[in-house]
Amino acid sequence: MTSRIEWVVSSCRLLARIGAEMESSRPFAGRRIGTGIHLEPKTVALLLALRRGGAEVVSTGNLGSTQPDAVSYLVEHGVTVVGGPTTDEDEHDGHLRAVLATEPDLLLDNGGDLFVRYLESPYASLVGGTEETTSGRMRLEPLRDRIALPVLVINDSPIKQFAENYHAVGQSVLESFMRITNRATNGKRVTVLGYGGCGKGVAVSFQRAFAVVSVVELDPVRRLEAHLDGFLTPERADALRDAEIVVTVTGARDVVTAADLPLLRDDVILANGGHFPTEIAYRAIVADRRVQSTLQSAEGIDTVVLADGRRVHVLAGGHMVNLNGPRPLGNSVESMDIGFALQLRCLEAVVQGSVGAQHAVVPVPRWIDEQVARSVFA
Ligand SMILES: NC(=O)c1ccc[n+]([C@@H]2O[C@H](COP(=O)([O-])OP(=O)(O)OC[C@H]3O[C@@H](n4cnc5c(N)ncnc54)[C@H](O)[C@@H]3O)[C@@H](O)[C@H]2O)c1
Repeated sequence: MTSRIEWVVSSCRLLARIGAEMESSRPFAGRRIGTGIHLEPKTVALLLALRRGGAEVVSTGNLGSTQPDAVSYLVEHGVTVVGGPTTDEDEHDGHLRAVLATEPDLLLDNGGDLFVRYLESPYASLVGGTEETTSGRMRLEPLRDRIALPVLVINDSPIKQFAENYHAVGQSVLESFMRITNRATNGKRVTVLGYGGCGKGVAVSFQRAFAVVSVVELDPVRRLEAHLDGFLTPERADALRDAEIVVTVTGARDVVTAADLPLLRDDVILANGGHFPTEIAYRAIVADRRVQSTLQSAEGIDTVVLADGRRVHVLAGGHMVNLNGPRPLGNSVESMDIGFALQLRCLEAVVQGSVGAQHAVVPVPRWIDEQVARSVFA
């Protein structure tokens, strides 16, 4: 039997094809690429494709999602990996700085962690890079003039938006909810906070799993869209009071906090699908004076018991639910294969100088989107 990583790597059809092409063209020969990205089987396929293109790859994980077997596999295949799984922010910070200390020529960032730290001590040889997420784009956009290098935001490609955020995140958040809790969704009242690409996918996935879904959105236009899409759109407090399952997927901080504890019903389950583990203010909730005790009910389920007896279950301590808990799978192979094909083509364009410094923190150029879209049908 081959390993799960080999199954995933061999299932990444586009990455295999582009990797084979890059083995001849060697766009990254003599270049070092630094990454800070979830280290799990699909990213293994991406980093190995970069290696086939001639790159030296120096990598670390994101907070709370590194899978030890992915780290071992990468190391066996010539990728330098700094650190291992951690949920400790200071330790994670040290890992990111160690990646930057190698002065990579290109950065493949996920959440803006590397570019933000690069600006603290810039070095001359950085050519540019990519940023994978919405959360990273939000951090890097205000720094655009200071970065002044081409940084292509993969998230802002329409392909990433529909292939991953809409079609994959909802499925994998639903899969993770069921995998971690083993509870049904049928007839359950689910509140989704955030109705961007990811939130839409989460809302529709739970709805198709026979839940009664409400959406809470700060943006009135998106709230209207959720309403016209057939979701309930109550006021926030009413939605939280009613919910049996709450999913945050906003990219913002403190979306559900200790101040919400009086609203929550007994046995409610809170999960976060957003990038950073700050959407549910888990630490502040645990430390709140109304909390009597906290216990681990099962792997990936922390139960906060309130003095009045209500129980609030938090999945994965508020870390991204679809990359946590027992045997986390993340998004589907096909969705990540398409998204990572964008990564390869964007890094290739940056290193070849096909995009200039005027393209600092901008969406993927249309010609790369078209190239990747055509390749799916080739
Ligand atoms: N779990 C995964 O596999 C995965 C994959 C891709 C992206 N993400 C992450 O998911 C998050 C959302 O991504 P997106 O592309 O949907 O973002 P987006 O910016 O398109 O949408 C987020 C929405 O949340 C709303 N919002 C912000 N604060 C809110 C609040 N307090 N209450 C209610 N609504 C609020 C915003 O108005 C916006 O409409 C980001 O953190 C992104 O990095 C996760």
